[in-house]
Amino acid sequence: MDTLTPFEWFMLGWIVLALIVSIALFFVPAPYGKFARRGFGPRVNRIVGWIVMETPAAWLLVIIFALSEHVSHPGAMVSLVFVVLWQIHYLYRTYLFPFTMRGDRANITLLTVVLGVVFNFGNGFINGYYLFEIRDPLPADWLTDWRFLIGVSLFFIGLGTNIHSDTILRSLRRPGDAQYRIPNGGLFNYISQANYFGELIEWAGWALLTWSPAGLTFFIWTASNLIPRAWSNHRWYRRTFPDYPSHRKAIIPFIF
Ligand SMILES: NC(=O)c1ccc[n+]([C@@H]2O[C@H](COP(=O)([O-])OP(=O)(O)OC[C@H]3O[C@@H](n4cnc5c(N)ncnc54)[C@H](OP(=O)(O)O)[C@@H]3O)[C@@H](O)[C@H]2O)c1
Repeated sequence: MDTLTPFEWFMLGWIVLALIVSIALFFVPAPYGKFARRGFGPRVNRIVGWIVMETPAAWLLVIIFALSEHVSHPGAMVSLVFVVLWQIHYLYRTYLFPFTMRGDRANITLLTVVLGVVFNFGNGFINGYYLFEIRDPLPADWLTDWRFLIGVSLFFIGLGTNIHSDTILRSLRRPGDAQYRIPNGGLFNYISQANYFGELIEWAGWALLTWSPAGLTFFIWTASNLIPRAWSNHRWYRRTFPDYPSHRKAIIPFIF
């Protein structure tokens, strides 16, 4: 342990924080969506909230890359591929997804937004700093390595599942409608939170394709966030809809 650098200590502390937050989220679900409720301070416009919350992640990695020596390195193609993959997710999540949501425009609290900013800032920084400041650029043949190939496949399968599932949820409402209904189709036939499952697969792919402790740290944070939330949502569905499919799991098909 004596040999850990300050950055490695930071990553370790960040993982410990994720695990603490995860346990807390099983008891106190974040106050937005199905769990928006009084007692957590002011609410803000959801579209603005999402954009503010995700913006640190959308730009931090690019900025760190642009300021690093990788940007002028002749062999930095792999680093550029990492940036492009990250941006595909975050430009969608930050600037497209919020405009597609239907329902109550004020169902997110300022507190959730502030915590989201911290989460996205920490993860964007850890990934950018590790990949472009600490680690030297990976050689171009990394792009044909099995870890990259399996990782990138998982990344796109997860992204596709996430977007497809978000689309199913959106189709449950007409514009202006804020009702909750039982989602069906795709992986919703097996789990309550198919969108979260897609997101988990996506970041597992990222951890593999970057083969980095930073990618693993982000995966742990994502799982720490989404698993308790999926569990709370799953219980909410069961409580709310007596005809909710009983075989459906929360987030991992056939398992949990
Ligand atoms: N990387 C991470 O750690 C992380 C963390 C959080 C979220 N995310 C991602 O961000 C996206 C949104 O997350 P979220 O927590 O807001 O997901 P969510 O609770 O599943 O809600 C997504 C959207 O669908 C609507 N919706 C949900 N269930 C519905 C139902 N039964 N009937 C009708 N509409 C329904 C929600 O409306 P309401 O807002 O009115 O509930 C919201 O607009 C997901 O793709 C998720 O994977 C990632």
